[in-house]
Parts: sequence; C-alpha cells; structure tokens
Amino acid sequence: MLSETMQDALNQQLNMETFASYQYLAMAAYFESENLLGMANWMHIQTAEEREHAMKFYHFINDRRGRVKLAAVAAPKTEWASPLEAFQDALKHEQKVTASINRLVDLAIKESDHATNSFLRWFVDEQVEEEANVDAVISDLKRVGDSSQGLFMIDRELAGRQPEAEEGGEADE
Ligand code: FEO
Repeated sequence: MLSETMQDALNQQLNMETFASYQYLAMAAYFESENLLGMANWMHIQTAEEREHAMKFYHFINDRRGRVKLAAVAAPKTEWASPLEAFQDALKHEQKVTASINRLVDLAIKESDHATNSFLRWFVDEQVEEEANVDAVISDLKRVGDSSQGLFMIDRELAGRQPEAEEGGEADE
C-alpha cells in the first residue's frame, strides 16, 4: 500500500511524463513544419517512450493498490528559433525529470518504501540515457552551426532512430 504522500508524488510524476510526451509531440510537429523529417522521427519515438514512462507509473500505482488521479496537462511550447533551441529545451526538460525522479527516490528512502525505491531504479538509469541521447544531438548541432549541409546530415542520421525494444513495457503488462 502506498502512503498518501507517495501516491500524490507518483501521480505528479505520471503527469510530468505525460507532459513530456506532449512536449515532444509539439517538437515533432515543429520539425515537420520545417521539413526536417529525421528530427521529427526522433521526436515521434521520444513521445512514444514518454507515454510508456507515464504508463509505467500508471500500472505501478494500481499494482500497489493506489489510485491513479489524472490532472490537467500543461500546454507545451510549440515554436522554436532553431533545431538547436528545440533540443536544448528537451535537455532542460530531461534535467527537470531527473531531479524529480531523484526527489521520488529520496521520498521512498525516507518512507522505507522499498518497492517504490526498486521500481524507480529503472528510471534513474533511464534518465542517464535520456540526457546523454539529447546531449549528443546538441553537440552535433553546435558542431555544424549554420551549415545547411550539416543540418541535412544530422537530419538524415536521426531518421535512422528506431524504437527501443521495451522490456517490461506496456505490451506485456
Ligand atoms: Fe520520461 Fe524523458 O523522461
């Protein structure tokens, strides 16, 4: 059984992951409007991953006999001055998510809630990867600067991103 405090915190995280999915969808739409379809592909995969993250919280709250409480999802930003600015916003958001996951772990430890602590371990590891993935794209974008040929190459590369095989994902829950 989850404490009321933990249930609220997990529901807030569910909302944050849902917002992330929405924000990445807005970024996909931005890139499609700029005809950068490789970057849009990257964002479509990201939006689907964030939905999976949200659903992990959904299932965990239910499995612990808690109550899922869905709240309003904030409107995402929809315009960026450049691809670099969009990916920098993505990194900022991932850093916020990492801080939020860390606070949840702190709460789980404080409450001696070992099950929640164990559940959160996957997210602690995932956030390292999430930040690194975005950071790699930012480095490439900075390297090419204003070169349209460079941007074209990055876009082609990001078109190759494939969805990750998800262990313990929605399909088998
Ligand atoms: Fe679910 Fe990208 O954090």
